[in-house]
Amino acid sequence: MLERIGLKFLQNIDPELAHNIALHYLRFRIFPIKQTNANFPKLRTRLAGIDLPNPLGLAAGFDKNGIAIKSFPHLGFGFTEIGAVTPQPQKGNPKPRAFRIKSKKAIVNHYGFNNDGMIKINARLKKFAKRSVLGLNIGANKTSLSMMNDFTEVLKHCSKNIHFATINVSSPNTKHLRNFQEKEKLRNLLSLLNETNKNLIQPIPLFIKISPELDQTELEQVVKLAQRYQLAGIIATNTSTDYKLIAETNGFSRGGVSGKPLFAPSTKILAQLSILSEGKIPLIGVGGICSGQDVFEKICAGASAVQLYSALTFYGPKLVNVILKDLNNILEGHGFNDISEIIGIKKYEYV
Ligand SMILES: Cc1cc2nc3c(=O)[nH]c(=O)nc-3n(C[C@H](O)[C@H](O)[C@H](O)COP(=O)(O)O)c2cc1C
Repeated sequence: MLERIGLKFLQNIDPELAHNIALHYLRFRIFPIKQTNANFPKLRTRLAGIDLPNPLGLAAGFDKNGIAIKSFPHLGFGFTEIGAVTPQPQKGNPKPRAFRIKSKKAIVNHYGFNNDGMIKINARLKKFAKRSVLGLNIGANKTSLSMMNDFTEVLKHCSKNIHFATINVSSPNTKHLRNFQEKEKLRNLLSLLNETNKNLIQPIPLFIKISPELDQTELEQVVKLAQRYQLAGIIATNTSTDYKLIAETNGFSRGGVSGKPLFAPSTKILAQLSILSEGKIPLIGVGGICSGQDVFEKICAGASAVQLYSALTFYGPKLVNVILKDLNNILEGHGFNDISEIIGIKKYEYV
């Protein structure tokens, strides 16, 4: 009851303020959060060599600064991605920079990597001591002289305290960042990161997160380079700059669209990647997940694991456990024993 009132209140105030209240609620656990990560043996899985209690992760951007890391496993998430983190702290773009479109269950954000910087954030990661599976989304500073070096700096500084890192070349809110998805730039970046990672005392799995706007040729390049430079996997996708996805509510000309309207385009990209890589590269499916059925579909399209963000703002933290229960029931209903049996089995249906 209290949670429902709280959610209603948060949905009617400024989205960024609502987000900060929700995050601090989780941080200080003002009300005890039930340990909801019920044990679903069918949902246990492995992602790039990492064991996960379930395949549902918290997507990057929700806890950019790692202030509430402890809470997410309690909500039921199988893994958490913090960030995006840049070497230097930065304020991000001017406010307002987050908008919800309730009728579409969508969000448009133009944050621009507001974060406390790698030194402060790494101290928080260190304190958490990898108690559950933790990834870090790495970005570049807006005024950076070398964005390539920004990626390697954060990787080197934080790698000891995380299980994996995500190279974010797909946020639409930092000028020039998406250019790293072009063939030559991507080759140079991945080559440098591969080298940097190999030279760490303990190399970690590296993922690349791509945008939903890549065409078939660009996806082919991403797959080839991911294989050549031994990435652990690909995350598909970041937010979209296709404002037709929220057509009737137009007026947006910047920022990234997330939430329900992103489900179809991001799942299509996921399936294309699964086909192109012949299922050999682990994929994380993200974009528009709101239910257990959505997770089932992402996995059938080729995902080994999934993430969500926007749906939390519309349905609240209880959603995590609802999704896990539903997913478990769907697997049981179809007679599947575990997640691995369904990865990519319907990939041709989504392209
Ligand atoms: C407000 C907001 C901030 C985000 N910040 C980041 C970020 O810093 N790095 C990143 O890779 N993705 C970021 N994302 C994208 C999400 O991680 C995710 O890829 C996208 O929202 C699609 O998932 P969803 O439809 O479940 O929200 C952000 C999304 C939102 C809504």
